[in-house]
Amino acid sequence: LRNPQSIFSVGSEEAAVMEAVNFLKKEEAIGMPTETVYGLAANALSEKGISRIYSVKNRPQDNPLIVHVSSLSMLEKIMPNNTIPPLYLPILEKMWPGALTIIVPKSDIIPSAITCGQPTVAVRFPSHPVARALIERCGFPIAAPSANSSGKPSPTLASHVFNDLNGRIPLILDGGQCDFGIESTVLDGLRSPPAILRPGGCTYEDIRELPGMEKLQVYRKHFVDKQLEMVPTTPGMKYRHYSPEAAVVLFEYPLENSRVTTLSQAVNQEIEKLSAAGQQGLKIGVLQTGDNFHCSDNGTVQIVQKQMGRATHPEEVAKAMFVAIRDLDTQGVDYIFIEGISEDREGMAVMNRLRKAATTIIQL
Ligand code: TXA
Ligand code: MG
Repeated sequence: LRNPQSIFSVGSEEAAVMEAVNFLKKEEAIGMPTETVYGLAANALSEKGISRIYSVKNRPQDNPLIVHVSSLSMLEKIMPNNTIPPLYLPILEKMWPGALTIIVPKSDIIPSAITCGQPTVAVRFPSHPVARALIERCGFPIAAPSANSSGKPSPTLASHVFNDLNGRIPLILDGGQCDFGIESTVLDGLRSPPAILRPGGCTYEDIRELPGMEKLQVYRKHFVDKQLEMVPTTPGMKYRHYSPEAAVVLFEYPLENSRVTTLSQAVNQEIEKLSAAGQQGLKIGVLQTGDNFHCSDNGTVQIVQKQMGRATHPEEVAKAMFVAIRDLDTQGVDYIFIEGISEDREGMAVMNRLRKAATTIIQL
């Protein structure tokens, strides 16, 4: 996809990648597909490229960026003394390339604009063939946050990037829909015990199986006496995030078997409350897993029901979630009611994102 306004194919994939390489060499920022979400890419070793990232997506200056590499030797080259902390080696062997970001010590090669002055840097080796080809052809590491406008839901289609950043970047490489649909897991193995700072596409269950990860901790939002509490983890976690235009109401419930009855009752109750408040022309999107249940429009509200995968397959929900939320936003709904899922596997990252997107959480 190339600006201005027009969307067209550049020809071969190789030609498109080389065009992107040229922009990155000129210290521009462009849209890049990865297996997790789309990234806003720039040369990680260029101060000017990095500052383009912050200004294009209007990102707070104290939220550090992830550096993307295309090989272990590229990682070595940006490490102090060219040495990867040995504790990571068995982990990287199993998880890279993929949806895992690791925290490593920062060397002087990495501009401090990337790390926002922290002594560590976050690094990832993406598996998406287009991202890998791009970094390889550049020969330098690429800094890339998610390619959404700051605060918006993460982009999992090239058109999402286009909608958010149209006119601000010269090129988006369209690699189709992202496989995972949620960002990478950020793992800090330098702490004792090691900790997941942001749950993501690489699951807690899988990382825990790896050598040295037996005591793995997770920092995330959790409930204490029905109040949502947040343990501060990565700098990015303190900002409002993943938020569509519509108000998001998240329904959480622990019951498996009576799922549909409990949920449909609660959803219908909320619809009734809103319609009783007498707001004219109200439009409510209902995002649920599995089959549609009956939602009553009370003759006044307009209801759009959408599915996002099966609750028993959290990877399906992860992949569909941001597409569905953005789609409902495009349809102009005032509220999005979302069914929560269990925190197993990818469900941990799904619930982390939904709790941050939510304006209201209803616990059933
Ligand atoms: O899947 C992903 O990780 C995507 C794709 C494009 O690779 N990127 C992404 O970047 O999600 P971003 O900027 O949206 O999120 C990066 C997260 C933020 O929460 C940030 O605070 C954290 O990583 N982070 C970056 N450097 C850090 C550091 N040195 N220490 C702790 N957290 C760090
Ligand atoms: Mg982001």
